[in-house]
Amino acid sequence: MTPLPSDELRNDPNPGPLLTIRDLHIRFGSLEAVRGISLDMQRGEVLGLVGESGSGKSATALAVMGLHGPATRITGSIRFQGREILGLPHSDLRLLRGKQMAMIFQEPMTALNPVMTIGAQIAEAIRTHEPQLSRHNLKQRVLEALASVAILDPASRLHDFPHQFSGGQRQRILIAMALVHQPALLLADEPTTALDVTVQAQILSLMAELQRTHSLTMLFTSHDLAVVRQIATRVAVMRHGEILEIGPVADVFTNPEHPYTRQLLRAVPAMTTDRTQPLATP
Ligand SMILES: Nc1ncnc2c1ncn2[C@@H]1O[C@H](COP(=O)(O)OP(=O)(O)O)[C@@H](O)[C@H]1O
Ligand SMILES: [Mg+2]
Repeated sequence: MTPLPSDELRNDPNPGPLLTIRDLHIRFGSLEAVRGISLDMQRGEVLGLVGESGSGKSATALAVMGLHGPATRITGSIRFQGREILGLPHSDLRLLRGKQMAMIFQEPMTALNPVMTIGAQIAEAIRTHEPQLSRHNLKQRVLEALASVAILDPASRLHDFPHQFSGGQRQRILIAMALVHQPALLLADEPTTALDVTVQAQILSLMAELQRTHSLTMLFTSHDLAVVRQIATRVAVMRHGEILEIGPVADVFTNPEHPYTRQLLRAVPAMTTDRTQPLATP
């Protein structure tokens, strides 16, 4: 039997970086949202992509997932597991998405279908790549998925609709859905931005735990340096579609090279902030 492209990728004979982006440009009409960025992601690392709103973080993550519309012009190279994926036909991308790579978004309500029960939505995500599962096994998998993100008493929640869950629970459910097929790469696009600070901290620690247990490689975007600092091993600072500096979190935070990074850092309130002084403005 000829293996599906996704099976070839899962066997992954290539020991190099999981993801390699080279000279990526993304244009929406006359606007160049991403201007020639390059980066590598090693297996198991969490790369924080940080920058102010409009700097091109989401555009970059969407390009990796192949989720831009046909009007968006993308050039350069995106290699995943050693294989060029920029410009792959939709049928090949569908095999990758959800299975080898998955994405979670800022706004958990809009990413869920409001008129479909949570149980049915998770089941659908599982069935997309495992259509042969029996009803019994499918239900087991749905329950395991909910339990893995600490939704209490999952069996009693299967028939609930998204609005019956809190914002934090909805994001947990989306994380569970993203991980049902044990993807190698998780693109997390401002996954905590829409949440209250305490819930944000819970989701961050859940994501850190899942990242470790699944050996996930994660691209985590945020406008918030303090959030990125908590979860990332390396950080890339983005501004106006360019990466200004990239390096291990400890280096970038303690010894930033670029003046813009220093500005961003000054804007993060710390316990040591001198409150008699005016706030630094970026
Ligand atoms: N679909 C689109 N059509 C036109 N412009 C877009 C589209 N998506 C994003 N942009 C623009 O591209 C730039 C980068 O956007 P984005 O990647 O969403 O930034 P970030 O995620 O860093 O806030 C912004 O100027 C934004 O307005
Ligand atoms: Mg964004």
